[in-house]
Order: sequence, then structure tokens, then C-alpha cells
Amino acid sequence: MGGRLDGKVAVITGGASGIGRATAELFVAEGAKVVAGDISDDLGAELADSCGDSLTYQHADITVEADIEALVATAVDRYGKLDVMFNNAGAGGDPASIQDITQEGADRTLRLLATSVILGHRYAARQFVRQGTGGSIVSTSSVAGLQGGQSSLGYTAAKHAVVGIVREATAQLAPLGIRSNAVAPGITMTAIMGGSFGIPRERDDEFKTFLARALADKQPIGRVGQPGDVANAVLFLASDESEWITGVVLPVDGGQTAISMGGWLAAAAQAGEDFLSA
Ligand SMILES: NC(=O)c1ccc[n+]([C@@H]2O[C@H](COP(=O)([O-])OP(=O)(O)OC[C@H]3O[C@@H](n4cnc5c(N)ncnc54)[C@H](O)[C@@H]3O)[C@@H](O)[C@H]2O)c1
Repeated sequence: MGGRLDGKVAVITGGASGIGRATAELFVAEGAKVVAGDISDDLGAELADSCGDSLTYQHADITVEADIEALVATAVDRYGKLDVMFNNAGAGGDPASIQDITQEGADRTLRLLATSVILGHRYAARQFVRQGTGGSIVSTSSVAGLQGGQSSLGYTAAKHAVVGIVREATAQLAPLGIRSNAVAPGITMTAIMGGSFGIPRERDDEFKTFLARALADKQPIGRVGQPGDVANAVLFLASDESEWITGVVLPVDGGQTAISMGGWLAAAAQAGEDFLSA
């Protein structure tokens, strides 16, 4: 395979690790030029080394508007244009419960996971209009953007907001030839997992192996996701293969959100058997 993004230029936030990194590597392999932004500069530099001239790494904190604007500017300066914007960076946000969350915690979480996606749309759309070319915006929501009970309040609210952003962006931007879609990953083995549970970074790989085993049966496809599973979906939404698709939030979750996690049907069937044999 290769060439599905030939001639395209993409910006990827959170490009140094996990889903963003796998997507950056896949985009380059498919012929794109990539500007990857992140705050993990060591990992970003390592990525840039391995990708050569096809990828530029730039420090970019997505809670700082000027940093998002600067990523788009770098894509234009370095590679001449922008075709794809992937609003992906994120972290767990404030884990506080409804009773305990503070205004500061809620604001910080929404700024990181939702306002950044609005601003990514803003600067990408302005550039696409300037170019007169249209373009594709992909954002990372979550299964926590589709259901409650999957994460904390702040994270869930912010990832639901991404769905709203994609839908309103579709209303405003589709007539301009600009598409906006999202992926909603399920349980995906990245550093965000260890980060959320206080696992030391040096034990991250070991923890991911442990967790993958523990959570394998939490989706109908009996394994957890890997960053490449999500990157493959992002590639499709970024490429011209999806040119008639906009406003979509695509679960990439091994079927998790298609079923009731309660598993009541199997429990009811078991109860029926137990009842009849009692
Ligand atoms: N891993 C999962 O199970 C899962 C599930 C659903 C959604 N997501 C979402 O996927 C996206 C990518 O996360 P991941 O799982 O690849 O985790 P990850 O930790 O491997 O990657 C996230 C990247 O975002 C960067 N980042 C964090 N805060 C930033 C900021 N302020 N500015 C710029 N970069 C910042 C981190 O440095 C890191 O490189 C996030 O939006 C996350 O919420 C992950």
C-alpha cells in the first residue's frame, strides 16, 4: 500500500505519541508531508529523526491559540499549503466527580479537549478558504463522547463537545468544500492509559501488555485497540476516498458502543438456564 495521501499536507496535534504518532507515521508512508505538534519535545524530535524531510516537528501547546495557528503557518511555509487538519492531542483532564469538580478544573479540561478543537477548525478553515481548495478536518472524540459512564465528567463533556463541533462545522463548512469528521476511539493502548492511573513512564509498555489482557473482553471484538487501528480510520477520513462523508463520528472501538456493556442478555440467558435446572 502507499500513496493514498500523495501530495497532501497535514497538521497533526499530539503527533509525538500514541494515536497521533501512529497517524503521522502512516500519513508519511502514504505520501503526505506532515507538521506534527506536541508538548513532548523529546518524543517529537525522535519522530522527526525517523521520518526525515516528510515531517516537521514543532512544539505546540493546544491550550495556546497562537501555537495552533503557528502549526498551520508552518505547514504553509514549509510545504506550501494545508489539506488535512487532525485535532488529536489530549490527556485525561480533571478526574473530579460532579460533586467535587471546580470551575478551574472544568475550564482547564474543556480548554484542552474542546476549545482546542474549535481553534483547530478555525485556523484550518481559514487556510482552506484562503487557498480556495477545500480540505479535510478530523478530530479525536472518544467512546466517552458517545456515552456516559466511560470516563470522568470533564472528559465526557469535552468529548461530547467534539461531536457538536463536528456537526456545526459540517453545517457551516460543507458548502465551502471543507469536511469535518471525528473518530471515537475505544480502549486504545497508548500512554494516556498509564498516565490516567499514575503508572511511571518507564513501566508504560509493561502496563499496556497487562491492561490489554485485562480488558480484552470489554469489546465484542475480543481485543483492545492499538494506535494503528485508529490511524487507519483517520487515514480514510483524511483522504479523498471519503470525499462524500462529512459530519460523521466514527466509533473505532471493537464494537464496544454497539452493544450494551451490561451484557444483560447473556446474564438473562444464564438465569433462564439456572431457573429451569433448579
Ligand atoms: N487511548 C485511548 O484509549 C483513547 C480513547 C479515546 C480517545 N482518546 C483520545 O485520543 C487522543 C490521543 O491520545 P492517545 O491515546 O494517543 O494518548 P497519548 O498520551 O499517547 O498521546 C497524546 C499526545 O497529546 C499530547 N498532549 C497532551 N496535552 C497537550 C497539549 N496541551 N498540547 C499539545 N499536545 C498535548 C501528549 O504529549 C501526547 O503526545 C486524545 O485526544 C485522547 O483523549 C484516547
